[in-house]
Amino acid sequence: MNDQIPIYSALCRYRGEENLRLHMPGHAGGRGVNEMLQSIATIDVTEVGGMDDFHLPQGIIAESQRLMAQTVGAGESFYLVNGASSGIHALFMSTAAEGERILLPRNCHRSFYGGMVLSGAMPVYIPSRIDDQLGLELTVKVSEIEKCLLQDPDIITIFITSPSYFGTCSDIESITALAGQYQKDVLVDEAHGGHFPFHKDYPAPALAQGAMAAVNGLHKTWPVLNQGACLHIAPGFPEHARLRQAVSLLTTTSPSYPLLASMELARMFMEQEGGYRLEQAGQWSEKFKEKINQIKGLHCHHEEFKERSDIKGIDPLKVLISMPGLQVSGYQMGNILKEKYHIQLEMETEHSILAMFSLLHDESDWERFYKALQEVAADYAGSKKGSLRIESPPAAKVVLSPRRAFQSTKKQVKLAESLNLISGEMIAVYPPGIPCLLPGETITEEVLDYLHYMIDSGARIQGPEEPTLKNILVID
Ligand SMILES: Cc1ncc(COP(=O)(O)O)c(C=O)c1O
Repeated sequence: MNDQIPIYSALCRYRGEENLRLHMPGHAGGRGVNEMLQSIATIDVTEVGGMDDFHLPQGIIAESQRLMAQTVGAGESFYLVNGASSGIHALFMSTAAEGERILLPRNCHRSFYGGMVLSGAMPVYIPSRIDDQLGLELTVKVSEIEKCLLQDPDIITIFITSPSYFGTCSDIESITALAGQYQKDVLVDEAHGGHFPFHKDYPAPALAQGAMAAVNGLHKTWPVLNQGACLHIAPGFPEHARLRQAVSLLTTTSPSYPLLASMELARMFMEQEGGYRLEQAGQWSEKFKEKINQIKGLHCHHEEFKERSDIKGIDPLKVLISMPGLQVSGYQMGNILKEKYHIQLEMETEHSILAMFSLLHDESDWERFYKALQEVAADYAGSKKGSLRIESPPAAKVVLSPRRAFQSTKKQVKLAESLNLISGEMIAVYPPGIPCLLPGETITEEVLDYLHYMIDSGARIQGPEEPTLKNILVID
């Protein structure tokens, strides 16, 4: 058993030796540390003898990463101690050089932008296609990717997100098959899909569908401390040495051992109990999603997703609910659930709420959520007036790479006087939460029309330094 959790075993051994700790961290094993954190501090060590070296792993970290790769079916796995974001950054840095073009979904996580600033990559965006009813983007479509590849032969790699934040999975198998015809690799931000390898009824993992790399935010779906994540690559990943250097370059020289141990222990837990727990969670999900759908005024999105050809899988643990027959918006519903029922959701939008269950919630948690929904639906039955029509932002006109835009001097101008200037900041409108402008993009007439329409409709603006958007930062 010990050799299956080499990091945790080494930490326990070290703690048991009761060494006089004349090394970092300065808490000397927990002295002066808040009582609640003290037991963690006893295994919070640095890279002393026997603890291996994160940047050149040859001992317990190497062995633990090997076990991780074996468990999830990867060629190699790299622990990340700065969340999935750092794996996404590392993939950009190992894949693209200055000016090289990468195909991405427009609604990708903000870490993609960081990856482009770090690498100098030039984005080519797959146009956004939002779901009419929900106003959310649920998948990237094979046909859209093919159009982009045909239009732009200079695209070097495809980097998509699946599952979406809402648990809907794209057809990665068809995307990798298509990419193969064009001799391109597919990389996947699978931040929310780390649990997929442990049950056959859950969506297939990206690597098993031919992706060359996948990033899992393990802290999102495994019992792992916040920030714990993993980057997995398939055998034959083309820029292996560069990837290792990028992970090292982006990682502190003082990685957290409690965090590493938490990922390792969770891997063992998933091996031993993941299948059984996911089985149970899947059954509760089926049962309660059906029950929620019987509550008047609510709609739990699941069955109709199964009918859609672009959605190849659905994570049962994501529960996406809209409220067409209630007087309240998703935002209001989130507040009521928090204030009255002490239930904190993962996310709210104008039209929906997203609850994120884990394989560690039990049936009583599902029941509590369901009962609260029942009560809220009874209290707020009715219909909303004049709710916002959600539209995709216009296509981006990228003129400067995110890196060039990041490095450029910026100045503030009136929004009304910004036509045809280059944006110096990110502006996203919620809903649908898809960026309308990113630094380096032209402020076109369509963009201004869209922003004005959305502001007048009462949408929320996120990103700009001045939230009222009377002024906008542009490249000087
Ligand atoms: C789809 C997606 N990718 C990447 C990330 C970044 O993950 P982390 O917070 O672990 O860096 C997130 C975070 O929420 C995400 O939702």
